[in-house]
Amino acid sequence: MHDRTAAIDAIVELHRSEHGALLSILEAVQRTNEHNYLPREELVQVARTLGIPLTQVYSVATFYAFFNLKPQGEHVITVCRGTACHTRGSKPLLEQTLHSLGIPLDEDGMATSDDLRFTVHTVACFGQCALAPVIAIDGVIHSHITEEALASLIEALSGAKESV
Ligand code: FES
Repeated sequence: MHDRTAAIDAIVELHRSEHGALLSILEAVQRTNEHNYLPREELVQVARTLGIPLTQVYSVATFYAFFNLKPQGEHVITVCRGTACHTRGSKPLLEQTLHSLGIPLDEDGMATSDDLRFTVHTVACFGQCALAPVIAIDGVIHSHITEEALASLIEALSGAKESV
């Protein structure tokens, strides 16, 4: 934990004089967090070290969708719930994903397995509606996804965990 405190101090020092320092600092803090998120105690440390109110730090951390305030699973599955994808069956795909991983969505529309292997998110639109339904797995877009294809992808990820 000491190492982490020192690492965050180093991140703050590296960026503090930059334009848009807080954004760069939070990006680096999240990127270097082992579960790819911004824990409260790390946000507190950023605020204290920068000498700014914690509310200011939270306003940036909550404004941008790419910041996570909860631990992220090793594999992140994002299901598009926009209109085009909905019309082409994204709801059953989301339900299939949650069911096969055995995890429910929380109040923030996110689900993470207890072992931190998987996180499931929804997104309003990937901007690739012509390819609907669309999901992303670990940042890789899968277009015109079918229930069979999704089952294979999830099975491959689940199998990967057993071979580790
Ligand atoms: S609605 Fe899914 S990509 Fe646009």
